[in-house]
Amino acid sequence: MSSLSSILLAWYARCGRDLPWRRTRDPYLIWLSEVILQQTRVAQGWEYYERFAARFPDVQSLAAASQDEVLKLWQGLGYYSRARNLHAAARQIVECFGGRFPHDPADVRSLRGVGDYTAAAICSAAYDLPMAVVDGNVFRVLSRIYDLDAPIDTAAGRRLFARLADELLDRTAPGACNQAIMDFGALVCTPAAPRCGECPLSDRCRAREAGTVDCRPVKQGRAVVRDRWFHYLHLLDATGEGTWLCRRESDDIWRGLYEFPMIETDRATDFAALVSDPRFGRWMEGCVWQRLKSLSWPVHKLSHRQIHATFHQIVVTEGRPCVEGVLYVAAADLGDYAVPRLIESYLDQYAAGTAGRRRWRE
Ligand code: ADE
Repeated sequence: MSSLSSILLAWYARCGRDLPWRRTRDPYLIWLSEVILQQTRVAQGWEYYERFAARFPDVQSLAAASQDEVLKLWQGLGYYSRARNLHAAARQIVECFGGRFPHDPADVRSLRGVGDYTAAAICSAAYDLPMAVVDGNVFRVLSRIYDLDAPIDTAAGRRLFARLADELLDRTAPGACNQAIMDFGALVCTPAAPRCGECPLSDRCRAREAGTVDCRPVKQGRAVVRDRWFHYLHLLDATGEGTWLCRRESDDIWRGLYEFPMIETDRATDFAALVSDPRFGRWMEGCVWQRLKSLSWPVHKLSHRQIHATFHQIVVTEGRPCVEGVLYVAAADLGDYAVPRLIESYLDQYAAGTAGRRRWRE
């Protein structure tokens, strides 16, 4: 009987996707693709990969860039710590490895943001080292083939799946074998409506036999989603030609990105209550201002957070807001700053509403 890996490899040769990062053995480009593809669909990641590879064709160019530029290019992909780590790791490669992407798996694993999965993906695809990847696709495929009810979000579960993935790996073609199982999970053994009718492994799929395909893989507990209330002060200077932005500095979501001065509260709060918040008083001291309107934004969902954002449009006719680290930005330059998608969509809508009246770009 053929082995699982040989069936997967034969399927991959027929049906695997032709993706740009599979046409190279350059570890830098493979690393770039893997970081982009974490928590991102191939269709979306592809465009970002092309952009990054064109602007930063090698480790040196990425290391030499500013963090602002890297975050700007990353804008819209989310999970911005990936971009910060990518940039920091490029600098690490220049400083500690003479600018050459490391070959030793322990050195690869030592790079900022590189965990077991990414190290295995890079070392197998670039160097053909026998390191099995374990990602969401692998959990799903293996849990169904073997009908495993071990929860994948526990240490014991992860160890079990890592062992099975290692056993399945074809030592003569580890790179292709890893890509095969991931593509198989993305195209055939999908989370919803898997294509069992066209699956080359269906006659040995234990979950199919047991009728448990839809219950695999098992997760122990869902992450608790926390609500947060962000009140953005979209301060317009009296000429209508500029606004003020702050860079998020604390160890929190969106670190390094720009936003309007923001007051966070632990519950829904109306504008009158916001004005009596001491932060508002400090920031607007000495200013003459007038609120134009407040817009409640649709809830913005992140993996562990739900952001309830309100944008308060306020014209400042005298004085300057006094917020630590605040930057005055001309409307025409707003597009140069990396902002969270939430702010980007607000700015798009604002620009559309003011088109013809004010000059807003991007
Ligand atoms: N997701 C993560 N790595 C991938 C890869 N190399 N190809 C397709 N999807 C992926």
